[in-house]
Amino acid sequence: MVKCRVCGGTLDEFVDFGRQPLSDAFLEPGRVDDEFFFRLAVGMCASCTMVQLVEEVPRERMFREDYPYVSSGSAVMRDHFESTARHFLDTELAGSDPFIVEIGSNDGVMLRAIQKAGVRHLGVEPSGRVAEQARAQGVQVRHDFFEESSAAQMRQEHGPADMVYAANTLCHIPYTDSIFQGVDALLTPGGVFVFEDPYLGEIIDRTAFDQIYDEHFYFFTARSVQAMAQRFGFRLVDVQRLSVHGGEVRYTLARAGMRTPTAAVAELVAEEAVKGLADLATFERFALAVERVREDLMTLLRRLHAEGSTVVAYGATAKSATVTNFCGIDSDLVSFVCDTTPAKQGRLTPGAHLPVRPAEDFAAPFPDYALLFAWNHAAEIMAKEEAFHGAGGRWILYTPDVHVV
Ligand code: SAH
Ligand code: TYD
Ligand code: ZN
Repeated sequence: MVKCRVCGGTLDEFVDFGRQPLSDAFLEPGRVDDEFFFRLAVGMCASCTMVQLVEEVPRERMFREDYPYVSSGSAVMRDHFESTARHFLDTELAGSDPFIVEIGSNDGVMLRAIQKAGVRHLGVEPSGRVAEQARAQGVQVRHDFFEESSAAQMRQEHGPADMVYAANTLCHIPYTDSIFQGVDALLTPGGVFVFEDPYLGEIIDRTAFDQIYDEHFYFFTARSVQAMAQRFGFRLVDVQRLSVHGGEVRYTLARAGMRTPTAAVAELVAEEAVKGLADLATFERFALAVERVREDLMTLLRRLHAEGSTVVAYGATAKSATVTNFCGIDSDLVSFVCDTTPAKQGRLTPGAHLPVRPAEDFAAPFPDYALLFAWNHAAEIMAKEEAFHGAGGRWILYTPDVHVV
């Protein structure tokens, strides 16, 4: 029986995507024989309600020297992190000689603005190339995994932190006990632990099953975060909904007794109860909706192929690994994926082996249809590629259902 990674309770599995590859392991052509696969399935803890993967991929397989994801690839995300940094500078970091630690700082997209303001900071980032990109911009980075032992060393070397921040990273880390012990070691008594991640409520609303892949181990709700915080001596004191990455929530945690929770916390917890975000029946309905999306998407792609229409995909996202491999999309149905990330170009997507080509290839010539894998950046991409739509091209979307625009 599989146990909850937070509390040791029993997991009830509700969806199984079968054998899946590492979502960010883009392959060199000709080197496709030694791909790593694991069983991608999700369950909910019957005790603490945390929704999580049932199988854990060793972290060193995912967060390597050549981890290809760069945070600065979207203008919307650059703006988001710049305003996040300004907000922190005006609030938690407004005291004398403040210090912030960021878990999963990637290419320094957020800390760059902190560094420019002359504020003490430290990014913790195990993936070598992106850590180096951040350093090249003047950002202080510890090339390491954040965990209890590295946090204790940081405390020794730098003193206490006013805040620890993590964006799209805490949900990547199964070992919550070590993380919370590390946060506890680092934070000042009144300090806060702030993290933002894809929100389970949005994933259910949008049937966004592609948010489920190796790196996304946890799918948080206010209720499950509240239970997790409590377990480690913290309290959930604020929640804020964010529109980025298909709908996220920013959670603020403080030590027990240090801050009064805002009304927003109780409101979101109550909303989740009404929506059934701790009911297995809700997730079983989600699994059925996922099946329908797979059938509808494959029916559409096969029809377009039979009609002789050209179809390419847009955005070699980690999310798309689940879509291509679960649905069975091959290069007959989708000829290639265009993407702006140099480290992905010239490679093949994991599992499905679709070629990744530079964004410029999208227009040379425009295809009849574009399957939008980066749907979380739809507004930004559709604005940028207005000429495609103008030339009669159509976007294929698959959340919350399969539709063409
Ligand atoms: N914060 C950025 C990056 C998110 S991608 C953004 O929101 O865009 C997740 C990042 O977390 C990757 O760069 C990965 O290398 C890093 N990561 C994974 N496990 C980690 C750990 N234990 N400690 C610190 N960073 C970690
Ligand atoms: P993203 O959806 O942010 O994350 P994940 O990989 O975790 O699912 O990935 C967006 C991908 O799309 C990334 O590889 C960069 C690419 N991209 C473009 O090619 N053009 C664009 O205009 C944007 C915004 C992203
Ligand atoms: Zn649990």
